[in-house]
Order: sequence, then structure tokens, then C-alpha cells
Amino acid sequence: MHWPHPRIVAHRGGGTLAPENTLAAIRKSRSLGFAAVEFDVMLAADGVPVLIHDETLERTTTGSGPVARMDSGSLAHLDAGRWFAPEFTGETVPLFAEAAALCIELCLWTNVEIKPAKGAERATGRAVAALAAELWRNAPSAPFLSSFSVEALEAARETAPSLPRALLMGEISREWRERLAALACVSLHCDYRKVTLKQVESVREAGYALLCYTVNEVETARRLFAWGVDAIFTDRLDLFGPGFYGPP
Ligand code: G3P
Ligand code: MG
Repeated sequence: MHWPHPRIVAHRGGGTLAPENTLAAIRKSRSLGFAAVEFDVMLAADGVPVLIHDETLERTTTGSGPVARMDSGSLAHLDAGRWFAPEFTGETVPLFAEAAALCIELCLWTNVEIKPAKGAERATGRAVAALAAELWRNAPSAPFLSSFSVEALEAARETAPSLPRALLMGEISREWRERLAALACVSLHCDYRKVTLKQVESVREAGYALLCYTVNEVETARRLFAWGVDAIFTDRLDLFGPGFYGPP
């Protein structure tokens, strides 16, 4: 298949150049000329999707405890930038709706990773898919919804069947064909450290795109692209300039 999207995707919004999963990170990627971002989305206690990676608040915010126990209004008062560097003080935990609006405004291709807290797989898949369908309804290119959670992707499919889905797998398992077919996915996203050339070829021959995370070395990226990998997620925006792979 021909991959029509950008080949370099800024991981968690802006990789190592800005606090992860913030609006500042997304803006940083765009300002450097990147055309694609990935970020993680989880539900706050009131069911509102927000951008955050961990199930708990400690690592990336001034809050503490589980994300799923705090409503989105309270999350908005936390600082999500200061842990990274003083100049990012004041960055918030963005609402998914805010991040989506920014990506659309900046014409960024977007991979929304559905990152459910344990036990909230279906609810998160449903909420993210419903909101994504609404937010991107007039946008030129639909976001990819990816997840490690099969349940979340099933719920996303039921809610917004037309949005493209991607299954995340650390290591590509033996039943990848059945899984991708059952979820009607368009792509498989895997850990580059576990993938083999034969797997890249098999996945692509089966008609799916293959994306690899989190590739932070230029030589590794070159090898993966030579193998046929369609796109990579990277933290190293400083190494992978927009011209690294040329236009999609
Ligand atoms: O979507 C690719 C990658 O983000 C998956 O790993 O833990 O960084 O969300 P993680
Ligand atoms: Mg992610």
C-alpha cells in the first residue's frame, strides 16, 4: 500500500523538546516544520477525554493520584509543564477537544492513542471515538485512533466506524492477522526493537501500514524505512528534520 501521510510523527506531541502531551508540545512540532503528531488520551473522572500518558498524575503534573479520580475541571488547574522546564510553567493538561482543535488549525496529521485507565477500556474507546468524529468532521484528513487495548478499539469501531484504527503491539504476536481483521484496522504500530524484516514484509503484503515507535536514532530509522516501514514515531525532533524523509 502507498502511505499517504507524513513519515515522521512527533511522539507525545513534541518529543524531547517540550513537556509531553501538552499544547506547547504540539505547537513546537509545527513550528519546527513537522507535519504529524501522536498523543495519548485518557478519561478524567467526569468522562471527559484529556491528554496524559500515565494513569497517575505525579510524573508529569503538579497533581497526585489517579487521573480517573479527578474531573477535567480540576485537572485544568494543574501545571503540566513545570516538571519539564521552568519556561513551560503554566502548561495545562489539555482537553482532547483543545488538542484536536489545535492540530486541525495547524494542519497536523494526528494519531490519537486511546490510553484507557485499567477497567475503562470500552468507555475510553467510545468517548474518544465519538469526540474525534465530531471534532474532525469537517477536517480534510481523519485522525488515526490507535490503542494497545482491543476492547477500546472495538468500542471505537462501534462508535465511529469510519475513523481509521490502528492496533498497537509491543511485539507483533502470532495472531496479528486475526486481530487486525477483526478490528478492521488500517495499520499496525509496534516497538521497533522487536520487529523483523520478515514481519514488516508480511504486514505490508497483507495490505496494512506498519508504523514503529519510538525511534530516536537516524541509522535505525533509515534501516526501518529501507525495510518498508511506513512511518516512525520519534522523540528526537532535533535529529529528524522535516526534510529527513521528504514529502509523503
Ligand atoms: O503510539 C505509539 C507510542 O506512543 C506507544 O507507546 O507508551 O509512548 O504511549 P507510549
Ligand atoms: Mg503514545
